[in-house]
Amino acid sequence: MKLKKIDPKIYNLIKKEIQHQKKGLSLIPSENYSSLAVISAMGTPLSNKYSEGYPYKRYYGGNELIDQIEELAITRAKKLFKAEHANVQPHSGSQANAAAYLALLNYKDRVLGIDLSAGGHLTHGSPVNFSSKFYNFAYYGVDPRTEKIDLKEIEKIALKFKPKMIIAGTTSYSRKIDFKGFKKIADKVGAYLVSDIAHIAGLIVAGLHPHPFPWSDVVTATTHKTLRGPRGGLILSKKSLAEKIDRAVFPGMQGGPLDHVIAAKAVCFLEAMHPEFKKYQKQVILNAKAMAARFHDHKIRVISKGTDNHLMVIDVSCFNIGSKKIQEELDSVGIYVNRNAIPFDKNPPYNPSGIRLGSPAITSRGLKEKECIGLVDLIMKLTLNIGNKKIKKEVFNEVKKISEKFPIYKDI
Ligand SMILES: Cc1ncc(COP(=O)(O)O)c(C=O)c1O
Repeated sequence: MKLKKIDPKIYNLIKKEIQHQKKGLSLIPSENYSSLAVISAMGTPLSNKYSEGYPYKRYYGGNELIDQIEELAITRAKKLFKAEHANVQPHSGSQANAAAYLALLNYKDRVLGIDLSAGGHLTHGSPVNFSSKFYNFAYYGVDPRTEKIDLKEIEKIALKFKPKMIIAGTTSYSRKIDFKGFKKIADKVGAYLVSDIAHIAGLIVAGLHPHPFPWSDVVTATTHKTLRGPRGGLILSKKSLAEKIDRAVFPGMQGGPLDHVIAAKAVCFLEAMHPEFKKYQKQVILNAKAMAARFHDHKIRVISKGTDNHLMVIDVSCFNIGSKKIQEELDSVGIYVNRNAIPFDKNPPYNPSGIRLGSPAITSRGLKEKECIGLVDLIMKLTLNIGNKKIKKEVFNEVKKISEKFPIYKDI
């Protein structure tokens, strides 16, 4: 690798990060290990190009091959998601959402989104995000008793608030989303339905979660979570909104697209069409269910009492040490998680009451239910014995063993 000679500092940090990923186990539900095919498409001179515009309608010359790559990515995305239109240019999930809003809303228009503590993303109207500064947001949460989305409650809020857009989609919600139910509400108040499937895109294309089409006007996604592709965003829509969406992405939100990432998205869409991908997604759900059940056996409260998808949020307030400390302790033995708010959380976002865990990355490594249950036991062992160096060492060694037994990236 030339990089080693030219920039040994960056080279060594990359090497170390690869080792770091190999030695630890990521339980962060928004992370995954994309294939070397996806990664190699990203690390190509395609990033040298400028190709503002869309295939065969560029503002720069010399894009004949880039046109073919983006066209292929679009065709595959439409097929994979049964969508009438696809825009593969958003640099990220947040930019996909920003472009969807730009396409359909005017400044200060009313939007109904999900509250952050109930499972929403920053771009769903968080007070610290552009979304709440540009648009007028109201929020729905979850039922305090079931901790699940309650469509009747959403309908009540929608009838009162009369939003121009309703967002269905979450970042830390473990239950199925009833897009058809959301559509009924949207129709009652004449709102657009935008479904943000950033987390569950992989489950959807595998047919393991209700599909957002034909119910949604626009669907936004990321390509790097359950979908296991490169870091990036994606917008799918009805044909009637295609022009609005495309104009919102470029020139509305972005300049030139990341052509190397678009090539990697095309590879990821192809991989997701393979029967193996469905098998993988089935195991993702089985593993998450096994973990949630094991936490329950350990008397740890799992939000909404379980999971239908790839993630769960557990209430760690019973440990009385704060989720931040637990996250740091787990980090130190090579188990990566992220602290997260729970519904109606009394603690602040910096040190909330919950921890969010997911199975997509460990399932990509080949872990099955038995190992996932063992992993929960290790998390419990460490968390119940914080400060005990001997136990910490034991857990560290166990994590190392599992990581070596289920390797990633054998070739690098
Ligand atoms: C539901 C949802 N939407 C949007 C995003 C934003 O994606 P990105 O981090 O690529 O901007 C996320 C990321 O976690 C998400 O969970």
